[in-house]
Amino acid sequence: MPTAFITGATAGIGAAFARRLAADGFDLVLLARDTARLERAAAELHETYAVRTETLTADLSTEKGLTAAEERVREDVGLLVNNAGFANRGKFLDVPVADELTMLRVHCEAVLRLTHAALPGMLERGRGGVINVSSVSAFATRGTYGASKAWAVSFSEGVSADIRARSGGGVRVMALCPGFVHTEFHERAQMDMSDVPDFMWLDKDDVVDAALRDLRRGVLVSVPSPQYKAIVGASRLLPRGLLARMSSTTGRKYK
Ligand SMILES: NC(=O)c1ccc[n+]([C@@H]2O[C@H](COP(=O)([O-])OP(=O)(O)OC[C@H]3O[C@@H](n4cnc5c(N)ncnc54)[C@H](OP(=O)(O)O)[C@@H]3O)[C@@H](O)[C@H]2O)c1
Repeated sequence: MPTAFITGATAGIGAAFARRLAADGFDLVLLARDTARLERAAAELHETYAVRTETLTADLSTEKGLTAAEERVREDVGLLVNNAGFANRGKFLDVPVADELTMLRVHCEAVLRLTHAALPGMLERGRGGVINVSSVSAFATRGTYGASKAWAVSFSEGVSADIRARSGGGVRVMALCPGFVHTEFHERAQMDMSDVPDFMWLDKDDVVDAALRDLRRGVLVSVPSPQYKAIVGASRLLPRGLLARMSSTTGRKYK
C-alpha cells in the first residue's frame, strides 16, 4: 500500500484523514509540532489498523520544519495531504503582522514546497494524489485567512493543469474546501462560534469521505456537503463588496 503524508495529523480534519487512510491500509507519516501527541496518535493507529506509522515533529512556519518535511515527502509518498492550518484571533489590524506572515508560510509556502517535493516521484510512478486543504472562505474574501485559502485553490487548479499531460490522469491535485467543522481550530483562535447554526456544521469524517471520493473522481475543487455547494454557488452571484462585508462578520466573534 502507498504511504500517505499528512500535515496537522494530530487533531481535527488531519486526524480524521489519518484514521480513514489507516483503515484503508495506507502506511502513514504524521506531521505536527507536538511530539507526544504525534507519538500517541501513531501508536494508536498502528495498533488499531496494523499499518506502519511514522512521526515527524516539525513546525511548518520554520525553515527547519519545512526542510525536514520536504526531505521526507521526496522519499516515497503516494498521497500528500497538506492540511495543517490555523486562524489568527481577530480581524486584519488586530493581528500582529508577524502572525499573518506565519499564516502565509503554513497555508501557502508549506503547501507549495511540499507539493513541489511530492509531485516528481508521483509522476515517475504514474500515480499519486495531493489534497490541499483550503476552505469555503476561499470564495468569500475573508482577510488573510480567506486570501491564503483562495491561493490554495488557485494553486491547486494551476498545478493540476500543468501536470495533466505528464500524469496521464494518474496523478491528481485537488483543493478541499470545507465549511465549518467541529475541530480544535476555533478554540485555538478563541473564536466564539455560538451563533453559527447547526446546519452549517460538518462532521470531519464526512468531509474526509467526500474528499477521497472527489479525488478518485478527478474533481479539482471539492466542496463537501450540499449546503456549502449551494453557498459557494450563491457567493459567485453576489457583488464582491457585499460578500466581503458579510464574511467579515459571519462566525467571527472572539472570546
Ligand atoms: N475547522 C474548520 O471549520 C475548518 C474549515 C475549513 C477549513 N479548515 C482548514 O482545515 C485544516 C485543518 O484544520 P482543523 O480544523 O482540523 O484544525 P485543528 O483541529 O486546530 O488541527 C490543526 C492541526 O494542525 C497542526 N498544526 C498547526 N500549526 C502547525 C504548524 N505551524 N506546523 C505543523 N503543524 C501545525 C496541529 O498540531 P500542532 O499544534 O501539534 O502542531 C493540528 O494537528 C486547516 O488548514 C484549516 O484552515 C478548517
